[in-house]
Amino acid sequence: MPLIRFGVSIDKILLSKFDRFIKDKKYTNRSEAFRDLIRHELIQQQWKGCQEIAGAITLIYNHHKRELVNKLMDIQHDFGSNIISAQHIHLDHDNCLEIIAVKGNPKQAQLLADSLKSVKGVKHGTLSMSTTGRGII
Ligand code: NI
Repeated sequence: MPLIRFGVSIDKILLSKFDRFIKDKKYTNRSEAFRDLIRHELIQQQWKGCQEIAGAITLIYNHHKRELVNKLMDIQHDFGSNIISAQHIHLDHDNCLEIIAVKGNPKQAQLLADSLKSVKGVKHGTLSMSTTGRGII
């Protein structure tokens, strides 16, 4: 892919804030940071639209709560067509980490994540919004 250079006018204060952000995020130059910000915004847009998306849901829960485990399983079966794979990791004697890879309609993926996170007993849940890679780069 050919790179195109273009000029950006920006006020001094905003640029110094951007440079601090770049340093904190370990970017080596402004261009890469700028590209990532654009990609981030485009991915957010994909999630708001109806394009096909990809992402990951993580859940932390106590597996001793059997009803909770069954409920999480029921929900995942209801959204079977959106789930590519699920990985279960036993963190310690009590706690489990589940990583669920999702793909498809963004509204369905968000609904799946919300349904899982809101089950009583789930200690923490996140949805990482990403892209199938098409239409972004
Ligand atoms: Ni486990």
